[in-house]
Amino acid sequence: MPSAVATTSLFSPLEMGPYTLPNRVVMAPLTRNRARTGFVPWELNAEYYAQRSSAGFIVSEATQISQQGQGYPNTPGIYTAEQVAGWKLVTQAVHAKGGHIFLQLWHVGAVSHSSFQPAGQMPVSPSGVPFHDGSVMTADGRIVPYERPHALEIPEIQDIVADFRRGAENALAAGFDGVEVHGANGYLLEQFLMGHSNLRTDAYGGSIENRARLLLQVVDTVIEVWGADRVGVRLSPWGRGFSGETDVVPVYSYVLRELDARKLAYLHLIEPHVREGSAPIPEEARSPLVTFRPLYPGVIVTAGGYKRETAIAVVENGLADAVAFGRIFIANPDLPRRLMENAPLNPYDRSTFYGGNEHGYTDYPALEE
Ligand SMILES: Cc1cc2nc3c(=O)[nH]c(=O)nc-3n(C[C@H](O)[C@H](O)[C@H](O)COP(=O)(O)O)c2cc1C
Repeated sequence: MPSAVATTSLFSPLEMGPYTLPNRVVMAPLTRNRARTGFVPWELNAEYYAQRSSAGFIVSEATQISQQGQGYPNTPGIYTAEQVAGWKLVTQAVHAKGGHIFLQLWHVGAVSHSSFQPAGQMPVSPSGVPFHDGSVMTADGRIVPYERPHALEIPEIQDIVADFRRGAENALAAGFDGVEVHGANGYLLEQFLMGHSNLRTDAYGGSIENRARLLLQVVDTVIEVWGADRVGVRLSPWGRGFSGETDVVPVYSYVLRELDARKLAYLHLIEPHVREGSAPIPEEARSPLVTFRPLYPGVIVTAGGYKRETAIAVVENGLADAVAFGRIFIANPDLPRRLMENAPLNPYDRSTFYGGNEHGYTDYPALEE
């Protein structure tokens, strides 16, 4: 009798860097705005992540690498000793339950307001143009129009790379299993990648190579701290930062080839969100994995609107190796088991996503044993 061929499924283990992960149901990075004074994680956050430790692995909520990198209230940081101590509570709680957790390293760039910034300065950006028309949040939670951000000088860019390095070192000290560089969703690194927000004429602007320089410098400095096999990168081609750019495929093709050469733990791709009234989305954006999978043979984690059936299919047909779930992981702490058993899902409550207390955070029920 020929032996059965082992098929890869959403529920089969994943070899990723030095880790053997129990399944391919990843917890997506999710900002929940529940850090304590000083942007310090605490016991409540530890309980929330520990409840979700059956994920293949967890990516933490986006975590600012400096005060300058912050753009929303009560998001955690990774630049003070108190923050490192707070994150230790989280990593220890996840590890005690056998889980794995990566820290998402974040700088919002222009998506901030002077009320978050050191000495009330203007937020920073590649070129002093707001990222897109619209609004930002103030430190006391009001929605106001964008301010004109400060255009970074080259020494200031080097300081940001150093801040990413310190964040990576602090993440190591806090006991994480790896780090994810947040290169997605319209924040600083994507502001450099996209031509409409990067009008620079120096080594950080103009050609695709120049626009990708900061992202790759950040990735390389983080690799120096962690080793490539414990570093992931999150990107969102045609995502929130898309503004009708015509060179998305060449930009991301270049970046993916560069990242592939570095042999990272994983690449995390967000599927485009087609929104009413936004710039027309080109045809190839409708199936970005088909476009980009051939360029990146390493581990790909995909995210964005996945349901049980679509997640099972995307892993089985090899377009991705794992699937990150956001909103339904908020509402279902035992999501891998529920997906495996095809059990009903708790609905999520959007009103408790951002800020608040344990309600809508640690009080979603798991299935009975
Ligand atoms: C409440 C909330 C917070 C989020 N915070 C982050 C974040 O901190 N970092 C990030 O890269 N993406 C963030 N995202 C995007 C999610 O990681 C994910 O890509 C998105 O929710 C789509 O997946 P889903 O359809 O499974 O929810 C957030 C999404 C939500 C709903």
